[in-house]
Amino acid sequence: MAASVLVVDDEETARMVVADFLQSKGYEVMEAGTLAEARKIINQDSTDIIILDVRLPDGYGPHLLAETAHLPRRPQVIIVTAHGEVSMAVEAMKNGAQDFMEKPLDLLELEKSVKRASEVVAMRRELNHLRGKASLDKFIVGKTQRMQDIIELARRAAEASVSVLITGPTGTGKEVLARYIHESGPRANKPFIDVNCPAIQPTMFESELFGHESGAFTGATHRRNGLMEIADDGVLFLDEISSMPMDLQAKFLRALEERSFRRVGGTALIKVDVQVVAASNRNLKEMIANHEFREDLYYRLKVVDLDLPSLSERKIDIPDLVGYFLQHFNMRMGANILDVTPKAMEALINYDWPGNIRELRNAIERAMLLCDDPAIDVGHLPRDITSPTMLPSQGKLPLA
Ligand SMILES: Nc1ncnc2c1ncn2[C@@H]1O[C@H](COP(=O)(O)OP(=O)(O)OP(=O)(O)O)[C@@H](O)[C@H]1O
Ligand SMILES: [Mg+2]
Repeated sequence: MAASVLVVDDEETARMVVADFLQSKGYEVMEAGTLAEARKIINQDSTDIIILDVRLPDGYGPHLLAETAHLPRRPQVIIVTAHGEVSMAVEAMKNGAQDFMEKPLDLLELEKSVKRASEVVAMRRELNHLRGKASLDKFIVGKTQRMQDIIELARRAAEASVSVLITGPTGTGKEVLARYIHESGPRANKPFIDVNCPAIQPTMFESELFGHESGAFTGATHRRNGLMEIADDGVLFLDEISSMPMDLQAKFLRALEERSFRRVGGTALIKVDVQVVAASNRNLKEMIANHEFREDLYYRLKVVDLDLPSLSERKIDIPDLVGYFLQHFNMRMGANILDVTPKAMEALINYDWPGNIRELRNAIERAMLLCDDPAIDVGHLPRDITSPTMLPSQGKLPLA
């Protein structure tokens, strides 16, 4: 999409020369002879770039800089000064103008400047687009203070690229949070390697993690890179790290401290730069007390420690989560179920959710499959949610 340019100048001929020239270069051009006209156009259309004369009949051009600074799509401003007004232009640049040019305008120089500005505009559009997408796909719903604190801390840990330990009961979003950390930090475009520790055979753990040379053990016919190496520059997500064998915990800790390791059967030291995010729903402190988990590794991992609450501790997030899942499954299923009846919502809020967000998500998905109406009702929800056998007082919405 071509950028739109607004030319603001009270001298009609000068303005038209610029406007015609930019139009011939493929830009969408609008014109204004006064500040008032300029404001009107900016408010009505989305202007990407403004070529702005300093002295206008109804005021000082650069005032527009401050006025447009908080627009969601702040235009790029190129200031045009009369000869000898350079200090004014410098001032305008400090206030956020992109460039300045002196009169009489050199059209080729102007074109270069407009092109640079339009590149900034295109880049910003792309970023907004990506952000919009990310917020839909990887949205971490949570307006309780505890969730807000966790999200903020996760964002900082991502920026600083430090090790993170995520704990919390099953289905509370540990993996979602790990992916969020990857995506909100400088490693976003590098690998995210998801290691499901319980699925790895204890005897294979070392070679999975560090790789092996050919002939390192029976069956090792080729050299193979380990997950640490594959995750280089990115994030290594160790899911349910409590399943990592003790002897390997020591080797892994050493690799983290030294930022290097050797492949199984290899002698060369391999240097890596990985951010480790580990998750566990087991109580690691208890495991340490029972000598099932190494304390030194535990402290090495929890530079930042994020403990996710169970869903029953954050019931005020249920309506937002339900809204999020409706939208998610509407897109996936091509359905158009926009709401939940008040009775059904009450049931969802009163239920205790031992399976946390995963259970809520499954309940909504199932209800949407059964529902032919525009709203989900009690009848669409699983039995154990609508007729809980638990004490009814347990599940009241906390008024936090
Ligand atoms: N804040 C959230 N917003 C939207 N969806 C979420 C959120 N947290 C979790 N979910 C959804 O809930 C489900 C479970 O999340 P996830 O797999 O991250 O949980 P977990 O804590 O890793 O669970 P487990 O301990 O069982 O591995 C996923 O389907 C995920 O999409
Ligand atoms: Mg998980």
